[in-house]
Amino acid sequence: MNDQQLFSLLSDMSLEEKVMQLVQLPGGAYDPTAFQTGISEETIPQRVRQLAGSTLSIDGADKLRDLQTRYMAAHPHHIPLLFMLDVVHGHKTVFPCPLGQGATFDPALVEEGASVQAAEAAADGIHVTFSPMCDLSRDARWGRVMESTGEDVLLNSRMAAAMVKGYQGERVDDGRHVASCIKHFAAYGGAEAGRDYQNVELSEHTLREKYLPAYRAAIDAGAMLVMSSFNTWNGIPASAHPQLMKEILRAEFGFDGVLISDYGAVREMVPHSYAEDDADAARKSMAATLDIDMCGACYSGHLEELVRSGKVPEQALDEAVMRVLRLKNDLGLFEDPFRGVSAERLEALRSDPAVRASARKTVAESLVLLENKNEALPLRGRRIAFIGPYAENADIHSSWAISLGDTSGTVTVRKAAEEAFAGTGTEVRFAAGCTLLDQGTHVNVSIYSDPDWEEKNRRLADEAAEAAEWADTVVLCLGEHRGQTGESTSRVSLTLPEVQTDLLRRLAGTKKRIVTLVFCGRPLELKEAAALSDALMVCWLPGSEGGHGILDVLTGRTAPSGKLPMSFPRAVGQEPLHYDQYPTGRPRPDDRYDAFTSRYLDCENSALYPFGYGLTYGEVRFSPVTLSGGTLAPDGVLTASADVTLTGPMPAEQTVQLYLRDVTGSRVRPVRELKDFRRILLKPGETRTVSFEITEPMLRFWTAENRWASEPGRFRLWIGPDSASGSEAGFTLIG
Ligand code: BGC
Repeated sequence: MNDQQLFSLLSDMSLEEKVMQLVQLPGGAYDPTAFQTGISEETIPQRVRQLAGSTLSIDGADKLRDLQTRYMAAHPHHIPLLFMLDVVHGHKTVFPCPLGQGATFDPALVEEGASVQAAEAAADGIHVTFSPMCDLSRDARWGRVMESTGEDVLLNSRMAAAMVKGYQGERVDDGRHVASCIKHFAAYGGAEAGRDYQNVELSEHTLREKYLPAYRAAIDAGAMLVMSSFNTWNGIPASAHPQLMKEILRAEFGFDGVLISDYGAVREMVPHSYAEDDADAARKSMAATLDIDMCGACYSGHLEELVRSGKVPEQALDEAVMRVLRLKNDLGLFEDPFRGVSAERLEALRSDPAVRASARKTVAESLVLLENKNEALPLRGRRIAFIGPYAENADIHSSWAISLGDTSGTVTVRKAAEEAFAGTGTEVRFAAGCTLLDQGTHVNVSIYSDPDWEEKNRRLADEAAEAAEWADTVVLCLGEHRGQTGESTSRVSLTLPEVQTDLLRRLAGTKKRIVTLVFCGRPLELKEAAALSDALMVCWLPGSEGGHGILDVLTGRTAPSGKLPMSFPRAVGQEPLHYDQYPTGRPRPDDRYDAFTSRYLDCENSALYPFGYGLTYGEVRFSPVTLSGGTLAPDGVLTASADVTLTGPMPAEQTVQLYLRDVTGSRVRPVRELKDFRRILLKPGETRTVSFEITEPMLRFWTAENRWASEPGRFRLWIGPDSASGSEAGFTLIG
């Protein structure tokens, strides 16, 4: 349809019909097998089910084809129903969790993955994915860091844009792509003390410089929807925030797509003490141009009356409805409400070796090698014992892999190890070693308890010790439970479960070579694990091809190349921890002891493993930086180059990183900021020159005059392998 036809449809719709386009019902309202939310789906009036414009969390090609047919037949204007779902890191083929994808520093690969995920979701009837989460995440206590690509502005921005492009493709209506709903606008990751849903206290310049750019990059990449966040900023809940929504999102960013609330966030403004009641909440959200009320009864119960009484102008309603109709139209739903939904196509995708290969490659690139003492890796030896609760566990998906279904297609460490070593002469053994959790641990929606816990762990530890004695190398597969990261999973401690640490201590006592793998959705305190292990590698929550990707790296089929997308702390008390801090007037250089500096008495300031850090097999060396000049004019270009050399046994990829520091500004400037990065492939012994171009726009920030601008003066720069090292140079920006 063209815009004129859409307007004519709008003018033909009743007030009730228009309001209902702005109502999103939980999937349980249409499908009794869908996740029941506890908001009594059965009490939703039949009329609302008949007219609501969208629903979420139902999938299944045949089911959705059938539902669409029935829904459209009953709708007075036969307007199709929109199906939305959290396809966060895969639909049926699950890729590494977003934090793991961040560790790849490979936006092109992430874009490819998103397009595979979109194709599976589209074949299964989905129109919109609630992804990517663009929230900058710097506090590892917050469980949702797993859903982000980390702590850095530039990395987050590039990854967000890549995911949007992958999901939406060249043409979102080609039946192989889905619309991307970015979330959670804005600054959800800034939750005070890392506690989920908690209010956010941020200065406007930090909001603008650090938190907003990734959303902006995703919008510039064409994201068709934006989701509001649960939190307040400057004391006002995001879902009714005039400055965030009207001034920044709509006017400054030019976003004219659909703005949807997070789950029940409109009605939550009542307990949040910002709205008197549901009607007041609906009025306030409409005033902030929030188009769809997700799973709350504020719009469905009150918007009609608010428009009738003039409290919400009908024009505001019409504009919101037009945005929803345009989205349906852009998705091609008016021409084909089934959009190529096909159970056969989904099956073909699931078993497509290229899809699995893409997931496997992403796993391999996401793994971050933190320690490799005496070249413990790649694996050698004739007898390898894979021990630990993740040695055979297929539950290596995040809590957002909600449409996966059964995990029979998931490649565990065991399965991949048996494949990798079959016929090689190397023997492998497996043992669980301990339970995944300590007794009484709170995971997402339950508390873990097992009456035989103590007895079971005694037995498992003995079996593990015996396997370790037999082996020459132990691969210890430890980590968090998937229910310990994701929504509503904030923690005040960042340790591995005690039962796992005990196992590590016991096995370290055998003096065998210990390679520790850590499955997790957030930075953890790994000081002890690092001390007791010969090699230490972060595997995140790697998904369907987890075992394959991990064995590829362990065996040296692929050299490790992942880099940390978040700083790993020495102690939880350092959180929030991020490399691009603002300096103080009393810096504590190089963690040296120095009284009356900005420091802790009982811990260094620096991360145990900083942002950008990650080893490979062999050594990567950086030459001093050469600069094409000492000054940069506003319309000029400076080239900064360094030679990067690999002395190692096999080809390896390395992410070369460019950091800058503005020495003096009208506001204090971070000690370092990532400004560019590039993955390069090096052959053993090879040296490659890597060059970055520096231009004036890269130097802009939110100045004391409250605008984006650069300021003439001195800059320092580093080219290196992570945020805490590299060779340094300097230049001056002239006015
Ligand atoms: C989460 C969102 C998610 C939505 C729909 C909310 O609880 O905060 O990230 O997209 O539910 O499932």
